[in-house]
Amino acid sequence: MKRPCLDITRREEFSAAHRLHNPALSEEENRRLYGICNNKNGHGHNYALEVTVRGSVPEGTGMVMDLNRLMVILREEVIDAVDHKHLNLDVPFLTGIIPTAENVAVALWKRLEPRIQAFEGARLQRVRLYESRNNFVDYQGETL
Ligand code: NI
Repeated sequence: MKRPCLDITRREEFSAAHRLHNPALSEEENRRLYGICNNKNGHGHNYALEVTVRGSVPEGTGMVMDLNRLMVILREEVIDAVDHKHLNLDVPFLTGIIPTAENVAVALWKRLEPRIQAFEGARLQRVRLYESRNNFVDYQGETL
């Protein structure tokens, strides 16, 4: 018998600083490319992270996955590591990447996917990262 398939989403917010800078480019090129996000000593954002898990609903539980378990995973894997930190300097799993919203979303996917896979019948469907109220990126694990 076919079971309904649903998406469930947990949202968490964090604040962090970053600097967008490519050391392979000149100072002038960096300024042109990244604008105010190239500010020498960094600058802050209020981020929001929305993580969506897709799965069927087992009769026994009525839940794709306990959203409180998802909350704990997001806090353990992401929020504790990035909240009130400098993304370029303080976060080991972001070392060596330019912390654009795109790159951070991909890094968070890699961190979260094994934890979600541990739940039978559930899989990570989307990582949505807001860098501001109006700007966000989505990653669904795809590569081109
Ligand atoms: Ni920025």
